[in-house]
Amino acid sequence: MVFSMASVVNPAMTKANLYDQLASQLSSLLAGERDLIANAANFSALVFDSLPDLNWAGFYFERDGELVLGPFQGKPACVRIRIGQGVCGAGAAKCETVIVPDVHQFPGHIACDSASNSEIVVPLLKDEKLIGVLDLDSPIKSRFDEEDARGLEVLVRILLSSVSS
Ligand code: SME
Repeated sequence: MVFSMASVVNPAMTKANLYDQLASQLSSLLAGERDLIANAANFSALVFDSLPDLNWAGFYFERDGELVLGPFQGKPACVRIRIGQGVCGAGAAKCETVIVPDVHQFPGHIACDSASNSEIVVPLLKDEKLIGVLDLDSPIKSRFDEEDARGLEVLVRILLSSVSS
């Protein structure tokens, strides 16, 4: 499958190639810094700039049993989400990646940006404990598939290992 991307020179780059390239760029970007907020901020900027058809990319971190907004790119978003609430809360409750092809069909979806039509949430697990979620929104329905899930899970692991002692 051909996967085009505005900021990449090679227009025939596959989605797998794109995630491989992103993994390499992210490793370099985060090398030498262990602060979670700083690395999550650069992570969201890189992903938002590199993956096509996104209108929001960022993090929520677990704080006292709820999710609190972290670094992101896109329009201002809701600050606190209960575990189990919305797509982010569902990913956090299950500790599994959640792909939503059409957010308007997802019971309890929290609409932060009316442009969003599909969404993917990837949990951040450190020593099997939930520390937050990565959330990406797209204006395109069915924007995210299993290849995105696996690719983003690799990127999340790079983030988590960058901040581990
Ligand atoms: N749509 C999310 C809320 C966060 S925003 O998309 C940034 C949800 O249903 O959890």
